[in-house]
Amino acid sequence: MCGIVGYTGCNNATPILLEGLDTLAYRGYDSAGIAVWDGEQIVMKKEKGQLANLKAIIENEPVFGVCGIGHTRWATHGEPSYVNSHPHGDTKKQLVLVHNGIIENYLRLKNMLIDRGCEFVSDTDTEVVAQLIGSVYSGDPKAAIVEAMRFIEGSFALAILFRDDPHRIYCACKDSPMVVGFGKDGAHIASDIPALLSYTRDVTFMEDKQIAVLSPEGISFFDEFGEWIDKPVVHIDWDMDSAKKGSFEHYMIKEICEEPVAFRKTAEQYVSFREMRLKGDCFPWGDGDAQSIKRIRIIGCGTAYHAGLLGKKYLTTLAKIPVEADIASEFRYADYVFEPGEVLLLISQSGETADTIAAMRMAKQAGVRTIAVCNVIGSTIAREADEVLFTYAGPEIAVAATKSYLTQATVLFLAALRLGQLRGTVSDDEVSALLAELEGLPAKMEALIEQRGDIQYFASREFSARHVFFIGRGIDNALAMEAALKLKEVSYIHSEAYAAGELKHGTIALIEEGTLVIALMTQRHLAAKTASNMEEVRVRGANVLAVTNGRLDDIEGHCSKVWQLDETNELLSPFCAIIPMQLFAYYMAVQKGCSVDKPRNLAKSVTVE
Ligand code: M6R
Repeated sequence: MCGIVGYTGCNNATPILLEGLDTLAYRGYDSAGIAVWDGEQIVMKKEKGQLANLKAIIENEPVFGVCGIGHTRWATHGEPSYVNSHPHGDTKKQLVLVHNGIIENYLRLKNMLIDRGCEFVSDTDTEVVAQLIGSVYSGDPKAAIVEAMRFIEGSFALAILFRDDPHRIYCACKDSPMVVGFGKDGAHIASDIPALLSYTRDVTFMEDKQIAVLSPEGISFFDEFGEWIDKPVVHIDWDMDSAKKGSFEHYMIKEICEEPVAFRKTAEQYVSFREMRLKGDCFPWGDGDAQSIKRIRIIGCGTAYHAGLLGKKYLTTLAKIPVEADIASEFRYADYVFEPGEVLLLISQSGETADTIAAMRMAKQAGVRTIAVCNVIGSTIAREADEVLFTYAGPEIAVAATKSYLTQATVLFLAALRLGQLRGTVSDDEVSALLAELEGLPAKMEALIEQRGDIQYFASREFSARHVFFIGRGIDNALAMEAALKLKEVSYIHSEAYAAGELKHGTIALIEEGTLVIALMTQRHLAAKTASNMEEVRVRGANVLAVTNGRLDDIEGHCSKVWQLDETNELLSPFCAIIPMQLFAYYMAVQKGCSVDKPRNLAKSVTVE
């Protein structure tokens, strides 16, 4: 979604803002703009489309100044256009601001402000905030923000420049992330950590209704009433290189190639491989939990939900506990009544997904224990959940989630194993055996990645496919859902996942000569069943590819091609099987010339409903 950057210090702000916007571009946007105090006035430059358009304008008309804010906009209210791009100002020209989030009562506020004489130039909800703050401003920026926040309903992260106080940036937040940090040459803000990494790794996360005032000398924080507050500094150990593309053509392929390392790094936080045991203290389960937890409800969106489906399988199989998995956007409106002993397990890479946050807050309000699986320290979910199991994927920049899925599945597997151990449904010997096998997975993943040329070749022959079906049973069905999402989001090819046994109940009608069907077959006890389904589509003309770690004689004759994976325990098979699926999606998108890292219409962090 939208991105915000800001800088005040002793250097020229313009290149810092543009570099920050470049770093945040992965979030998705359709226009961009900056505002810089040039010593006399606040100069605004903005443009529709790619950042390159804005840069071209600035190259022709350079802007110099030591304090400024910048924004990439992902349109919500009003089409992508010059007038709707941020920054926006007030009629009296006292301030300009940039905004992430959605102002829910903007129409009511707009009518009120028009009655008070404000003249609106854009269709955005953001301009309403600028006009509102301008209408209550009487020389004290902080007081105006405090007053305006009382009227605003919805979500916002704001960075504001006041003409009367041009060396300071004022920020305020509610339900939309904002990170601030002080580097050696001044103070910075950004809506996401990677944009700060070049300047500092010691950052502070703003929380709801807090205000930050950035000056070249430092950063101060205030509560919603304008009272000074102290806030902790969090050290981020991501390095700059992990947020850069390096020699890779796209972030997506870089992040797929990073999966063995991300997997090992995450697993090592929870497992002592030297002693082949789980580090009991690193899990949220206490001894009492073995009996007191009656049900686990897993919540997430998109890929995180798909990882949750694997988690469901792990928890039911290993810990023998009832588990449900739900999509956050549905769950939050389902009038769900929590039962005693229920735990909500939230999965989110960013920790900022609006629907997942809403589900978490609902549960908390009902007194339900919340446990998050999250990749970003300091994010809203990481801060507000009762307990957090972190993934150690490092920054994930490509919109398509890859290494975050793998590390989420890793944490879910280990958490299920630990709960099973405590509940006595898995023996210590079984734990050690599974961990020993887990330790060997990175080498298998690396081998798969090394052979990616085969998948590239396959994609070069199949990229004109119009429909692709992924089928599987059990764990393979969950994997198929993620494989189909990956393919459609980056290559724009219509793809669907289907429980193999469901095909005959309708979907098989879509199979025609040449339709590509990818059958996932990593569960040996279900292989024969899926093989029958492969045959059913093959005889109707489908071009069938099988992905298996089993015996070839199970599938011979039912498919035209096989991708053979190493044998693993069935529960561990997704860790290897997902990699060729991600690579396949990637190469199909590359072949089609798609914008792989920033697919159309998509944003990395979905911070609005
Ligand atoms: O940050 P989150 O894990 O909460 O994001 C949830 C989804 O938006 C995300 O997984 C999305 O489906 C992927 N980027 C798709 O590849």
